[in-house]
Amino acid sequence: MKVKKAIIPAAGLGTRVLPASKSVPKEMLNIVDKPAIQYIVEEAAASGIEDILIITNRGKGVIEDHFDHSFELETQLAGNPSKAELYESVRKCSELANIYFIRQKETKGLAHAVLAGKSFIGDEPFAVLYGDDVVINEQDPVTAQMCRCYEKYGKGIVGVKAVPEELIHLYCSLGVTEIEGESRLMNCWQINEKPSKEEILSLYAILGRVIMPPGVFEMIEKGIAATPEGKEFYLTDVFTELGQAGKLLAYDFDGRRYDMGNKLGIMQANCEIALTHPEIGEKFKAYIKELAATL
Ligand code: UTP
Repeated sequence: MKVKKAIIPAAGLGTRVLPASKSVPKEMLNIVDKPAIQYIVEEAAASGIEDILIITNRGKGVIEDHFDHSFELETQLAGNPSKAELYESVRKCSELANIYFIRQKETKGLAHAVLAGKSFIGDEPFAVLYGDDVVINEQDPVTAQMCRCYEKYGKGIVGVKAVPEELIHLYCSLGVTEIEGESRLMNCWQINEKPSKEEILSLYAILGRVIMPPGVFEMIEKGIAATPEGKEFYLTDVFTELGQAGKLLAYDFDGRRYDMGNKLGIMQANCEIALTHPEIGEKFKAYIKELAATL
């Protein structure tokens, strides 16, 4: 079965990048000349995803505006031949894919946000692209890589990368075993969230991209119903259940990932993408060299 739909959860509070994210959603923080979420929508569209649901909340209406037509701006730019390229770049935002929005009415975590997409998805497999994780591979977008894995195996797939040992306690740690004939794909049988030293199973952690098989909404609903009031039910618990049933794979994706949910990640994304940007790349490289020489 082909993966044709995606959910982009973008309803978090973004507390790690306050005060920048107080009135501008962190998903709208820019990388050079585009907001983070545009890179994510472009990745989904380039991966063959036709319908995208963005989960927002109060105060994030600006995300909807970004993917809509901007009539006045487009009319102004269209009338000026010297602004043809700008016109194209603005118009393109509203034509990337079929984009839908729904609000998560309470900020109750990622699993709760994904559940808001239940009726949009129906009984299909779907991709989840975390709204603050930008992953770049222009030749072969990471979601496309993972969709191919899903089509081959028909199991849930979590996108993973090895993280430094001293940081793994901030992420989750996956128990994995090799699959014969596969270089990046592994069976995943256990996930330990925010592991202590003794709980580290491997340095692989889930980073921002997931393919969900049909049936996960029922698992989320059951999990939320069984979770005491005031406590969060984690998406990781769904992956653990799939893993223990032999229905989960981990995919060591081929792409550069930037965490737009923290300050260092935002600067790394801007710096690296600016260095390869067609308009400012060369000048920025010269500037960085000059700056580095003074450090
Ligand atoms: P994070 O846990 O990184 O987002 O969720 P956060 O809660 O905004 O982070 P901090 O700790 O306060 O800085 C990953 C993705 O899931 C979305 C976020 O918007 C982000 O894109 N998310 C998170 C939701 O959509 N709803 C939630 O309730 C929580």
